[in-house]
Amino acid sequence: MVGWFSKTVVAMTVRMPRWFVRWVSRRYVAGPHLDDAISIMKRLSKEGSCFTIDVLGEEISSMEEATYFFEEYMRVLQAINEHQFDANLSIKPTAFGLLIDAEKGMENIRQLVKAANKHDMFVRLDMEDHRVTTDTINAVKSLHAEGLLNVGTVLQGRLHRTLSDIDQLETELGPNADYRICKGIYLEPEDIAFAGRQDIIDGTNACIDRMLAAGAYVGIATHDVPVIKHAKAALEAHGMGPGRQDPRNNAGPARHHKGPGYEFQMLLGVRGPMRRSLLAEGHRTRVYIPYGEKWYEYSIRRLQENPTIGTQVAKAFLMPWTNRP
Ligand code: FDA
Repeated sequence: MVGWFSKTVVAMTVRMPRWFVRWVSRRYVAGPHLDDAISIMKRLSKEGSCFTIDVLGEEISSMEEATYFFEEYMRVLQAINEHQFDANLSIKPTAFGLLIDAEKGMENIRQLVKAANKHDMFVRLDMEDHRVTTDTINAVKSLHAEGLLNVGTVLQGRLHRTLSDIDQLETELGPNADYRICKGIYLEPEDIAFAGRQDIIDGTNACIDRMLAAGAYVGIATHDVPVIKHAKAALEAHGMGPGRQDPRNNAGPARHHKGPGYEFQMLLGVRGPMRRSLLAEGHRTRVYIPYGEKWYEYSIRRLQENPTIGTQVAKAFLMPWTNRP
């Protein structure tokens, strides 16, 4: 259940001036331009982090907008190569047109994944709300069937369907399955998703276990202590961890500049000390860096979709020691 405090923060935020929202979102969004993301990568490369870049924006209203996203991601791809960053791309399928013209949307995604493949770069299809879960998973399956293995999706621990999605993907993609597992940011209907905090944690942890057992590459995307603790114990149980080769006999080959079968992933601006301590322990740790002109819409929409973020953002500002960037 969403508390009164979160709701109040959200109600206040949508009435706040744009400059204030920008000031608040500054720690979570690199800035409006690609150069802003490049500056952050230069700075955080010194920590030993790797990155995934997200051009802000999602559901669009015309295919012209999809062209903008395609072209902007091509610029990102070039910049990553030019600067030799240890980075890959995270895209929202709806921003490529999936909900307007499924065929053209898929073609846009295909062209980007092909271009990335030429540079051995990985493309992650972010997972949006339940309207596109099946389409997003199917997009990955068909690209793999075409021989494009440098693509994978995100699965959400809060959805009831996720364990069976993992089983099905294991059958179809075998050792080439490559996931990001997260709790899921969208508040989904209760008949398809867990709602309680502990149930969501348990659901996410069960997915981590299933993915590791299936031999998949697992990007563990969380800032939550119980999930990180569980993931570390599960990795240990599989003989996986910093500095070790992936010992699972059903694992795929190392590829796309990835870690030994797993990595941790965190959002820019969230729980920096935790990220640095994972890095210090030797875990490959990726920072998700959003940038783009749509930073305002992104910030407001995230808050409206899941008001508990409002509490976290307020906590980060009122009690900065709980969440340093
Ligand atoms: P939880 O929300 O319990 O957070 C744990 C603690 O971390 C909080 O108590 C707070 O201190 C801090 N924290 C977390 N988020 C914060 C914030 N925004 N501001 C300040 N502090 C914060 N979801 C999805 O549906 N599809 C997707 O494709 C992705 N992709 C993705 C990539 C990466 C790299 C990450 C880390 C997350 C996602 N997510 C996502 C979001 C994910 O589903 C989830 O909503 C958030 O990560 C928050 O869940 P936690 O596991 O961090 O726990």
